[in-house]
Amino acid sequence: MAVPTSSFVVVANRLPVDRGADGAWRTSPGGLVTALEPVIRKQEGVWIGWPGGHLDDYDAFDVEDLSLVPIHVSDRDVAYYYDGMSNDTLWPLYHDLVAKPSFRREWWDSYVKVNRRFATAAAESAEQGGVVWVQDYQLQLVPSMLRELRPDLRIGFFLHIPFPPTELFLQLPWRDEILKGLLGADIVGFQRPGGASNFVRLVRHRLGHKTHRDKIIYDGRPVAARSYPISIDFKQLETLARSEDVQTRAKEIRDELGNPRHVFLGVDRLDYTKGIRQRLRAFGELLADGRVDIEDAVFVQVASPSRERVGQYQEVRDDIERWVGRINGDLGRIGHPPIHYLHSSYPKHEMAALYRAADIMVVTPFADGMNLVAKEYVTSRYDNTGALVLSEFAGAADELKQAFLINPYDINGLKDSMTRSMQTPRQELSRRMRGMRKQVRDHDINDWAEAFLSDLAGEELAS
Ligand code: G6P
Repeated sequence: MAVPTSSFVVVANRLPVDRGADGAWRTSPGGLVTALEPVIRKQEGVWIGWPGGHLDDYDAFDVEDLSLVPIHVSDRDVAYYYDGMSNDTLWPLYHDLVAKPSFRREWWDSYVKVNRRFATAAAESAEQGGVVWVQDYQLQLVPSMLRELRPDLRIGFFLHIPFPPTELFLQLPWRDEILKGLLGADIVGFQRPGGASNFVRLVRHRLGHKTHRDKIIYDGRPVAARSYPISIDFKQLETLARSEDVQTRAKEIRDELGNPRHVFLGVDRLDYTKGIRQRLRAFGELLADGRVDIEDAVFVQVASPSRERVGQYQEVRDDIERWVGRINGDLGRIGHPPIHYLHSSYPKHEMAALYRAADIMVVTPFADGMNLVAKEYVTSRYDNTGALVLSEFAGAADELKQAFLINPYDINGLKDSMTRSMQTPRQELSRRMRGMRKQVRDHDINDWAEAFLSDLAGEELAS
């Protein structure tokens, strides 16, 4: 099959679907795919990415009207570029060193090689004068590699995860290469304004380029560094949450849990940045202290499998599962385990039913670019019920100001906020939820994409 071309091309490490060992297509994990899928559908673009799992050939293909170009990544490059450089170097470094990053030269070499492969594929799929939108930390060299191949293109880059404080970024042996890689774009987008200003400062100090506010002059060309907080498809998820199927399933879930007064919920990729152990521990202590009665409350924790070959992910899984076992063993009774722990991922309608079934959503990352689960929860609460406990270190905290904001390092503070969320009168909860829902409704994924893409088109006039 000929390589599909388009005037709009998205390049992301992952394709939006992943083929399981049974041959069935599944939605790929993570917030990036959740956010981008509706955008690419609307733009009728081409999506270039790694298919993750099991593919026999690497021809372009379509799934549900999405035009997909799979990139072949060898087993060795999966180990070096993906597990290694992306998820054992950049991921922990960009998330405030929550875990210790490893710096390995052979991982870097593989990162350069695979980034070049993505850039070459994008150069083949983009039509003359088209727009290419490169996504996330796995592909930070693609903008400059692509510009070399195709100077006619408008190139955008968006970082879905936090951009670190300058002193942490400076640890990276390949710091200048990464900065130059990103500067190949016309716009470098970040989740929070702090990320954009860290980047501009680094470019000025490390590379000595002229900067003016959010603009950098690089090779005689303006590059803008700005924040664009990402969002979700509010309408689509709200409609799903209102559907009869989802309501029936939500009721079923509550029945199966024994209809307690308070259902707490956590939903995360199983990742050490998410603070899963801390929240379960806080819940366990509330039960042990007698501040919460086991007859009254349960905690449902969905932890979807993620990056399971990386040692620090194996360790965090063992750690969480030890805590679940300990809390359930010490505090549970027959038919009443305090924690329902599910190491699995679920389709959208099951997630919507869980959001509907939960009274209190607990989101406790130590560092998080945005956290779309928080936005999904408030979107699903169309009747303005429910409470959100949210880490101030998630990008979402900038927008969801009516949440019960917590510091995940402060377990006592977390316990107090969880208790407060249980005791707050319904009217007050409803006022808070209404405010948060308005924020997500007024700033949905279409606004995010339009803001970025219209700036990208506009920069053309400025250059
Ligand atoms: C985060 C990252 C994405 C990534 C996703 C899932 O949301 O920002 O780039 O795709 O996690 O992680 P995975 O390693 O499974 O692609």
